[in-house]
Amino acid sequence: MKKEFLAALACLFLLSPMAAQEAPIRISTHETDLILTVAPNGRLYQSYLGKRLAHEADLAHLSRHTEVYPGSGAEDYFEPTLAVTHTDGNPTTILSYLSSNTRKVDDNVTETLVFLKDKVYPVEVTLHYVAYGKENIIKAWSEIKHHEKKPVDIWRYASNMLYFERASYYLTEFSGDWAKEVRMSTQELQFGKKIIDTKLGSRAAMHTYPFFELGLDGPPREDSGDVLLGTIGWTGNFQFTFEVDNNGDLRLLSGINPYASTYQLKPDEVFTTPEFIFTLSDSGRGKASRNIHDWAREYQLKDGKGDRLTLLNNWEATGFNFDEQKLEELMKEAKTLGVDMFLLDDGWFANKYPRANDRAGLGDWDVTRTKLPNGVPHLVKAAKEAGVKFGIWIEPEMVNPKSELFEKHPDWVIHQPNREAYYFRNQLVLDLSNPQVQDYVFGIVDKLMTENPDLAYFKWDCNSPITNIYSPYLKEKQNHLYIDHVRGVYKVFERVKNKYPNLPMMLCSGGGARCDYEALKYFTEFWCSDNTDPVERLYIQWGFSQFFPTKSMSAHVTSWNKKTSIKFRTDVAMMCKLGFDISLKEMDEKEQTYCRQAVAHYNRLKDVILNGDFYRLVSPYETNHTAVMHANRNQSKAVLYVYDIYPRYGEKLLPVKLQGLDASKTYKVEEINLLPETRSRLQSNGKTYTGDYLMKVGLPVFSTASTNSRIIELTQQ
Ligand code: GLA
Repeated sequence: MKKEFLAALACLFLLSPMAAQEAPIRISTHETDLILTVAPNGRLYQSYLGKRLAHEADLAHLSRHTEVYPGSGAEDYFEPTLAVTHTDGNPTTILSYLSSNTRKVDDNVTETLVFLKDKVYPVEVTLHYVAYGKENIIKAWSEIKHHEKKPVDIWRYASNMLYFERASYYLTEFSGDWAKEVRMSTQELQFGKKIIDTKLGSRAAMHTYPFFELGLDGPPREDSGDVLLGTIGWTGNFQFTFEVDNNGDLRLLSGINPYASTYQLKPDEVFTTPEFIFTLSDSGRGKASRNIHDWAREYQLKDGKGDRLTLLNNWEATGFNFDEQKLEELMKEAKTLGVDMFLLDDGWFANKYPRANDRAGLGDWDVTRTKLPNGVPHLVKAAKEAGVKFGIWIEPEMVNPKSELFEKHPDWVIHQPNREAYYFRNQLVLDLSNPQVQDYVFGIVDKLMTENPDLAYFKWDCNSPITNIYSPYLKEKQNHLYIDHVRGVYKVFERVKNKYPNLPMMLCSGGGARCDYEALKYFTEFWCSDNTDPVERLYIQWGFSQFFPTKSMSAHVTSWNKKTSIKFRTDVAMMCKLGFDISLKEMDEKEQTYCRQAVAHYNRLKDVILNGDFYRLVSPYETNHTAVMHANRNQSKAVLYVYDIYPRYGEKLLPVKLQGLDASKTYKVEEINLLPETRSRLQSNGKTYTGDYLMKVGLPVFSTASTNSRIIELTQQ
């Protein structure tokens, strides 16, 4: 009997793949399941990524697919997630499953750790997954370490790999350059690899952005279809690899770009990869964007749930050409406009080589005495007297060779010891892998704040990629530069945030070349583009809104494309974090009145605009118009933004169908932001409609006028 029982047990063990195996590891949000299975060979495979399964028992039916974290040199012939050259020169790594655990962080969040180990070499990997239930977001990253006798070289170190078995895959990528950020384009992925990466180091997202959309079984659509939105939190060289394999299945690897970055990892040192953040939506990219917006406001963005300051900036208004009097006049204009703050931009610092243009002064953060004889304290005071707060621009990670800093500390600067230097915007990048340089950069903010405790805001710029790639500090470890530099930047951000937790800060990088969720832990908002032509901005804001809540996107009214009305320019900026960068002197009386009223409306509607759900209704990529809206959580208030770009003569105009309203409620439609002495031409103005009607039939709000706009407030009756 005993013998029979043992035989049966052995049979069960041998025949059933799941028997005597670990239970599947289930990483779940309210809508998504990622299921990992340990196979009889002791290795870990992804067996499912898709809509959340209703029955736990069904997990047992899942079969194994592709290895979750494949090492190099094994039987998988595609791109590995991990590659290590061991101390004996062997380049293979095969990871076996050790154990895993899942803990509930709170009612909404669970964290799963999976421990893997090579049986032959003492290399260990811990996979991290954090799942946000309500927001339907999963964050994934890995930690790599080893206990070999000497350092090993790691040359692949992905944060994560996901695997898809679908009929087709369509990638929407975001590319651009200065003043033409986040241009969206979509392509079908076929056999082989498509890589999106950057080697720019510091102004890292100047040509391509650390996020993408993946349409599964078809191109990504706004309100239907399966789509994955993914983004990586790394303010340096990132890489996404999309590889369609021999079976027509897709592997998606995310991580730091290993280019020129083979990392020498010491025994017991932990190499932590950046976080890959993704959401899977079965109803299009609109829903996926809202998932990310919710998650960002709740968990990631600095002061994500807080208020934002409206402002008047002087960059477009004055450039480098200002003095105390000019600034004080602008501060008064800020007050007249009704915004919260005046923001002083570039050109206020350096004495031996004053910052009169972008060729000198970066690095010397003392106020230019000839230009501003009474220093920053006087400006903060003047702003206070004018009745606004005061904010200031810095670009602390950079240096002009024409500066006292460079003369004193050439060894603090990334540049070649034995080649002629080349410059980007006449500047070089400070070597943030050097702790002394980290202290110096932190000291710039700290000194300004100590001298001016009432400073209310920083605009932190970063105008150059890393050029002349060589760190005097890292010496023979040049391969660490791209990674250790970014880690140094984070150390500084962390110190600033710890000491000044309530200080709002804008992240800027020659426009919008820094926009990732690791940096945004330390910044309340980012500058989307130096291109403030409202027509271009409609596309840029459409692009960034795929991944970022509009409260994190700074948008300023300027004189770019002055052919368009001040109303159009302001109405475009209204949907984001509103600011002005234009002197009132450039406007007539009516335009000034219009702007003041727009600011007042913005302040009144701030809660909907900053914290409401964002719906992209009509795409500027598909029509000659665009429309978006915010609706608040209890669906009592919404703001609809409508823009005619360059419509054709007599073109057919379709009504705009709203979203995010309560079908059973009734809403009053009111056009706001009208120029003085003009009346709304909307037939629907002042009327009431049910949410059902507004969402099914819609409102005829488009026109055939060029660069025409309408802001419409909807209020539950
Ligand atoms: C960058 C920024 C601008 C402005 C200038 C100042 O280009 O994007 O907004 O601050 O630097 O030099």
